[in-house]
Amino acid sequence: MPAFPENFLWGTATAAYQVEGAAFEDGRGPSIWDTFSHTPGLVTNGDTGDVACDHYHRLEEDLDILAGLGVGAYRFSISWPRVLPGAGDRINQPGLDFYNRLVDGLRARDIAPVATLYHWDLPQELEDAGGWPNRDTALRFGDYARRMGEELGDRVHTWITLNEPWCSAYLGYASGVHAPARTDAAAALAAVHHLNLGHGLAARALREVIDPAAKISVTLNLHHVRGESDKDAEAVRRTDALANRAFLGPMLDGAYPRDLIDDTASVTDWSFVQDGDEATAAAPLDLLGVNYYNPVQVRLWDGTSERDQADGHANGAASPWIACDDIDFVRQPGPYTEMGWNIDETGLTELLLRLHRDYPDLPLMITENGAAFPDVVSDDGHIHDEQRVDYLHRHLTAVTEAIEGGADVRGYFLWSLMDNFEWAHGYAKRFGIVRVDHDTQVRTWKDSAHWYRDVVAANALPA
Ligand code: NOJ
Repeated sequence: MPAFPENFLWGTATAAYQVEGAAFEDGRGPSIWDTFSHTPGLVTNGDTGDVACDHYHRLEEDLDILAGLGVGAYRFSISWPRVLPGAGDRINQPGLDFYNRLVDGLRARDIAPVATLYHWDLPQELEDAGGWPNRDTALRFGDYARRMGEELGDRVHTWITLNEPWCSAYLGYASGVHAPARTDAAAALAAVHHLNLGHGLAARALREVIDPAAKISVTLNLHHVRGESDKDAEAVRRTDALANRAFLGPMLDGAYPRDLIDDTASVTDWSFVQDGDEATAAAPLDLLGVNYYNPVQVRLWDGTSERDQADGHANGAASPWIACDDIDFVRQPGPYTEMGWNIDETGLTELLLRLHRDYPDLPLMITENGAAFPDVVSDDGHIHDEQRVDYLHRHLTAVTEAIEGGADVRGYFLWSLMDNFEWAHGYAKRFGIVRVDHDTQVRTWKDSAHWYRDVVAANALPA
């Protein structure tokens, strides 16, 4: 029976735009995801986050579900336009009070709040002024972080600056499948830099105002990249530079990798990096947040054979993989989740061990892992989601293997507490361990929720 270290932190995760709803209430300003979801054709079924899981109004019920699961922590995100509409200086008190109630309600139930400052809902006004490709957005993000630290830092003791800046930069500005739906590779690389800079400014501002014992982190969706054969080492190197080291470099090593600058020279000269920026980005961190869903396999493409393009961006859509035109993303063997992502937990063990090797003194935390499947409600009213239980069991076993190999993994946050707005897929993809009926907002525990509750209580996987 694989067990976990004492004090291992068990949690679940959500994000503001995906669950809150109340998009136009209590003084919340617009975000780029309001604009995106209200643009016809961009989200499956025309779904929006206007109502989402109505979590804003059902907070107590959802807090009680968390308490029932027995988790020690809950990872949520703060909606920047809810607390500082228009990214201005004035706090929107009703919006802030929602997070006060959330934080206090968690603590009253002995659940540690883990707050993410940016889970993709940029105030629309900042996008209108240029968005993440614009340096000022990073400075404003630092100011917003300080304000939140001042307001909540006495009670929130784990902070995450950014969630998956890979998605914000490359899906938002290169492939355009996420808000703000731009397809401009040079802008995407400028966004990479200003996300790194914003992260560093936010981490430094938080450090000045929050409890000195509190932990500061960032969540990255690092890609575990494998080559099809040894001759694909160059494809692996380039993919790793663009996806992983573009963030790990400045944030943890204080410099962009030279090879990334060279690889992308035809797209940008990186002149938006000013003296001192890389040092700012490398603010000391207490934890590294890792989101993991599946590994990636690449090969150099000879220009003639059929391409797999199994990066989800085939069919002529713009690619998020800048300066990688000669790289093919190879479709891997199944089984797959409903997202079409291959299920392979060995990538998680390997990724955690690599991070431990490269950054031996930095504790790791799985800030997201989970799966979408086409759940059905059975005649008995239950949701027998064995595939999700199997996915979770495999990945948690992979975590124990990394720990046995020496990786310092401090916790695991399951994505997600409940079915929610899965970005461009709308409500069509269900990641929750609690089902949400999006017509009635009724919550129903799936079998996976009962299973997870038992894992958390035992601090161990069932035999
Ligand atoms: C990562 C993102 O942080 C989250 O918002 C999303 O729903 C999950 N992956 C699943 O795609």
